[in-house]
Amino acid sequence: MMRYSRIVQKPGQPMYIASTAVFLAEVLKIIACLAVIWYQKRTFSRFWYVVRKEIFGKPAETMKMLIPSGLYALQNNLLYVALSNLEAATFQVTYQMKILSTAIFSVVLLGRSLHRGKWLALVLLMIGVTLVQSQTVSGSSSQSTSAASELVLDEDAEPFKDPAKEQEQLMLAAQNPIVGLIAVITSCVSSGFAGCYFEKILKTSETSMWVRNIQLGISGALFSLVGMLVYDRAPLMAGGMLQGYDALTWVVVANQALGGLLVAIVVKYADNILKGFATSLSIIISGVISFYLFNFQPSFQFIVGAVIVMVSSYMYGIDFGKKADGVKPH
Ligand code: C5P
Repeated sequence: MMRYSRIVQKPGQPMYIASTAVFLAEVLKIIACLAVIWYQKRTFSRFWYVVRKEIFGKPAETMKMLIPSGLYALQNNLLYVALSNLEAATFQVTYQMKILSTAIFSVVLLGRSLHRGKWLALVLLMIGVTLVQSQTVSGSSSQSTSAASELVLDEDAEPFKDPAKEQEQLMLAAQNPIVGLIAVITSCVSSGFAGCYFEKILKTSETSMWVRNIQLGISGALFSLVGMLVYDRAPLMAGGMLQGYDALTWVVVANQALGGLLVAIVVKYADNILKGFATSLSIIISGVISFYLFNFQPSFQFIVGAVIVMVSSYMYGIDFGKKADGVKPH
């Protein structure tokens, strides 16, 4: 949907500004969390009491969320740098290192200990998802849902028609792989650290996940607001914030916001490592759906990668005995 929304432009209508969509997704996340708290508390006075006590009353707790939200903001920008300086396939392969960085931070920050069999499963997962992704890059059937990818999709749209785009294409010709590699490695470290930090905060304090997401959303909204004003000031002044918005744009924004909340739910009830397996499996499920709906032709590489991902997921679930991984069965 995101790709479609960036490519198909209605005649006479401007393309929506991507940074406004990122900002609005943060705002929508906050509204969704407030709605859940209101639903849970049932009356307005009890809802307002929680908001006052937990959000306005604890600025230090909101400040704690500056670390993961700042890292997520950095990560999204660095991904753009990485994607502009590396070949798409190189990027996809190197970005899978975040599976390992997440596992390492789970050990360091969360005190998990992983059996050798589970490490092997993680390495297999990296290999499998790399194989699967290399087809989706060349076949352009799916993209990750990060804001950075969205910017790249923006780049894909109507090449050479717009002078700004033309300049971007020229910039692509002047790639600097070292810069790209440093950016992708930093993104992987940031993804692993921010994810595990958020997980630690969620699992070690009484504060509800919905309150935590509001705290995260507030700083996220502030960061994306600054980004929006710095990068897109001129078009914003000229055409306003909601220029080019249609129903599809709102669906994309809602999807981003709800997707972010889903990440939080996964991290709370499962963990960041399992999230890696879930997103890898979801790429394969997207492939299967695309096969039936969009005539997607999986390559041999995709099928081998898919099998490896499934085997590694099964392997990760095996109880290797003695050294438990800290995810206790209920
Ligand atoms: O690639 P990675 O898994 O690190 O990306 C996580 C994404 O989920 C980030 O884009 C981040 O903005 C989003 N997120 C969120 N709300 C959370 C946790 C993560 O929107 N509570």
